[in-house]
Amino acid sequence: MRIQTIGFRQRKSIDGPYATPMVNVRMSNSVSNVSPIPEARATVQSLRSSQIREVANAGIGLPNVLPFWFGESDRVTPSFIRDAAMAALADGATFYTHNLGIEPLRAALARYVSGLHGATALDHVAVTSAGVNALMLATQLIVEAGDRVVEVTPLWPNLVEMPRILGAHVETVPLRYGRNGWSLDLDELLAALTPDTRMLMVNSPNNPTGWVMSRDDQRAVLDHCRRHGIWIIADEVYERLYYGAELALNEIGSRVAPSFLDLAARDERVICVNSFSKAWLMTGWRLGWMIAPSALMDDLCKLVEYNTSCAPSFVQRAGIAAVEQGETLIRTLTRDLHASRDHLLHALSRMPDVDVKAPAGAMYLFFSLPGATDSLALCKSLVRDAGLGLAPGSAFGPEGEGFVRWCYACDRTRLNTGLDRLTRFLKAG
Ligand SMILES: Cc1ncc(COP(=O)(O)O)c(C=O)c1O
Repeated sequence: MRIQTIGFRQRKSIDGPYATPMVNVRMSNSVSNVSPIPEARATVQSLRSSQIREVANAGIGLPNVLPFWFGESDRVTPSFIRDAAMAALADGATFYTHNLGIEPLRAALARYVSGLHGATALDHVAVTSAGVNALMLATQLIVEAGDRVVEVTPLWPNLVEMPRILGAHVETVPLRYGRNGWSLDLDELLAALTPDTRMLMVNSPNNPTGWVMSRDDQRAVLDHCRRHGIWIIADEVYERLYYGAELALNEIGSRVAPSFLDLAARDERVICVNSFSKAWLMTGWRLGWMIAPSALMDDLCKLVEYNTSCAPSFVQRAGIAAVEQGETLIRTLTRDLHASRDHLLHALSRMPDVDVKAPAGAMYLFFSLPGATDSLALCKSLVRDAGLGLAPGSAFGPEGEGFVRWCYACDRTRLNTGLDRLTRFLKAG
């Protein structure tokens, strides 16, 4: 068998075009176009791999690296939630459930969302296997190959890659960085939302910048999307991690960021995605939900069936405890996160040439460092030379270059050790 390179196939990735050799396989004098290497379809190959992972992988095996690169707290899920899962297991909750989740959890979520954002019936609630699954399901519901999708960046890369998996074309509208931190040019976003746009995906509070979309901007975007029949997928997984002034209060006075659910009717072209991962410290449980028009639910059932079939049943039972008894937890968590944010902000802002601003939400500081013009290379040397694990800004799109992301959802001692390491690194550099 002879293998012959016959040309190069151009693939466009978010990082720019790159070429992949195409090979002919000559077998028994006949030429076929079958590659000798088993490979995924071209669109999947062209997806960007995670630069956060690239940095984390560079740190694996190195002694004593302090990781602040992933978006999760260092606190274990509280015992009232773990106990509920164990009780459910002891009770035999080990079977498939309805595609859209068990009814008591859907009902609990309907009550919870109604308390935060206005009347929401159970038939608008679908339980999913965490936020990332809800986002993919929502994308699969709405987007066809070739569709135009608009997103506000810098952004958690999963949101950019999901529509691309389905062959959609993603246009980005960058937030601008200025004296008051990251902000949206509303006119620029509205101009990008052309009548041929299928869907807007917007994440607020935003990972990585902590930017929060204002109620007025949400209203303007919703009005515009209504006029043109554009779907809005709102990723609101950080809605409870909110420290801004423009706040809504739920029944017991807890904070929540402005949400599209406050403005939109439940049967409009709006899908709001949420998760148990962040506010209830349940990243490893893989439980989330979406609020969507009830008319979508039959089709959503099919997609859930063919993706995961359902979320794990004992995990769903634990979700009921979380959502019904979790307000004290959320209040303590956000108070502590707020204090950690301010502590890190204060310490970073005293370092020479570090530019950092207070974001209104989420659990990250996204700041510029001397030498971060190549943030991936900088983060790799921070891991190697300082034992400090940060996420490179370029992982969140070209607008993020020059910045690094620090997840501050951890205890004070760890934050201080990280700060000492950064100070030493900057002095040495
Ligand atoms: C913006 C954003 N959306 C959604 C998610 C999904 O989280 P999960 O799949 O754990 O619910 C994350 C996780 O980091 C995130 O940062």
